[in-house]
Amino acid sequence: MALPVFTRFSSKSGQVLGNKRPHLFISAPARYLHPSPTLSMKANLLFTHRWRLYRHIGRCARQSFSRLKQFSTSSSLQHTPAPQMPGALHQQHHDLDPFKLAEPDLVSLYADIRKELWTQSNHLEQISSYYFDGHGKAFRPVMVVLMARALNYHIFESNRLLETQHRMAIIAEMIHTASLVHDDVIDTSDTRRGKSSVNLLWGQKKAILAGDFILAQAARILAQLDNEDVVHLLAQVLVDLVQGEFMQMSAMEDESERFSHYLQKTFKKTASLTAYTCKAAAVLGGADSTLQEMAFQYGRNVGIAFQLIDDLLDFIASQNELGKPTAADLRLGLATAPVLFASQKYPELKPMILRRFCNLGDVEKAYEAVLNSDGLTHTKLLARKHANEALSHISILADSVEKRALMSVIEKVLERSK
Ligand code: FPP
Ligand code: MG
Repeated sequence: MALPVFTRFSSKSGQVLGNKRPHLFISAPARYLHPSPTLSMKANLLFTHRWRLYRHIGRCARQSFSRLKQFSTSSSLQHTPAPQMPGALHQQHHDLDPFKLAEPDLVSLYADIRKELWTQSNHLEQISSYYFDGHGKAFRPVMVVLMARALNYHIFESNRLLETQHRMAIIAEMIHTASLVHDDVIDTSDTRRGKSSVNLLWGQKKAILAGDFILAQAARILAQLDNEDVVHLLAQVLVDLVQGEFMQMSAMEDESERFSHYLQKTFKKTASLTAYTCKAAAVLGGADSTLQEMAFQYGRNVGIAFQLIDDLLDFIASQNELGKPTAADLRLGLATAPVLFASQKYPELKPMILRRFCNLGDVEKAYEAVLNSDGLTHTKLLARKHANEALSHISILADSVEKRALMSVIEKVLERSK
């Protein structure tokens, strides 16, 4: 059995013994995950066992190699993949800009999406591509490509991005944007990302159809990936998005369940997309179930932390920074983490939460109460807790620039001011 990439390193010296054989890059894990149906059960088991053994040996060799790398001369380092420059590896993760690192992968993101939205109806194309103007943060695609590259490096010692993983980053951005187009209809929002919203410019009916169209084109790209497991993961994201938005529409009557309802809603509305698309990148890269779960948990915790900070900023950031009025959530009748924490100190908030702050003066009173309570501090602490969980999940990954960038993403989420 001619296996595989690990023959490239000597486990004794850590020297690179040969070049990569790219054709093995995809075929090896694919064979590992899907042993041939033509082989007997015994042969399949033997194959799986052998592959695991080779993988283990490879990993040991890689660990000793990376330890050696710290002491070796630059000549032995020139074999590391191009973006994995030693200088960058020595950089602390907070100095790394994850958005810069992911830029080469995403430079054509919006142009690629606009191509997918091409249609004979100029008008539909114009509306559906309106938000793909290159001004978005592309936070979700950044997470997907960094996770994909970090995992590929961990498994294959090659951080090369697979085309399917690149497509996953596109799908993530399209689903996210489609949900925002619909969200602005629900929230009757006039602005998005500092410009007029689709619903304001073209009306509700066309906005809903444009969101549907983006979603349909994302589904087409997903189908082209031809991976049933990934289709299941992304279908779950769509279910969660709708359920999350629906959960947000009602205040939980039972006070004892209010916080868990809020966290469940937060996962479905925000973290499901980051969790499942990170996991999909892992599945597409041939990662085993432990690594898939790691990717999912990273995306889940970062997504929840992101939303908690979003809910906190709603109280403290100015309209200019956020591009929407301060306390917009209260005005929409939403009780987010800061209010739920504050209601422990100020019980008078509880009936307001139930009536969704609809009485005259409710919004102002609730806003004051939150600022006077420790609701904001507790929200930040909870975000920190999820950030730490995300950090601990990715700690199992082999050290790489992309892994450090994933760590840096977490800090950026906590530090952001808009
Ligand atoms: C932003 O919420 C909205 C979401 C993250 C998801 C919205 C989901 C739907 C409308 C369900 C439909 C789903 C699909 C896939 C079309 P926000 O109002 O808290 O944030 P904002 O301040 O950015 O508007
Ligand atoms: Mg909204």
